[in-house]
Amino acid sequence: ASSTEVDISSIQPGQAVKAVFRKQPVFIKHLTAKEIAAADAVNVGSLRDPQSLDERVKEGHREWLITMGVCTHLGCVPLGAGEGENKGEYGGYFCPCHGSHYDTAGRIRKGPAPTNLEVPEYEFTSDTIVQIG
Ligand code: FES
Repeated sequence: ASSTEVDISSIQPGQAVKAVFRKQPVFIKHLTAKEIAAADAVNVGSLRDPQSLDERVKEGHREWLITMGVCTHLGCVPLGAGEGENKGEYGGYFCPCHGSHYDTAGRIRKGPAPTNLEVPEYEFTSDTIVQIG
């Protein structure tokens, strides 16, 4: 099986970058304390696809949100993993194809996408290297 190693040491808080895994984009987001607090403040039971932030990140690394950069509606690449891009109404990612808004935990909050951005299999092989897949 192929996997992708990403050095995350230069990704600043508030920044998200795109990597590629199995020819698909992966978003690696370094959450700020504010973004974590916003994700934690949501009533999970009210979500279309109910998941807490902790169900979507690794213990001890909860400031790192790693998701596929593939909208769960029809597969467009959402905006928000680049400088000055539209993060949508919930501060995470925005899919311009049909208007899906994802929050700071990559959870669907508004628009047609049925589920949260998928979290791929990954692990931290050190504090600065993530192996995806
Ligand atoms: Fe993203 Fe339709 S593909 S909203």
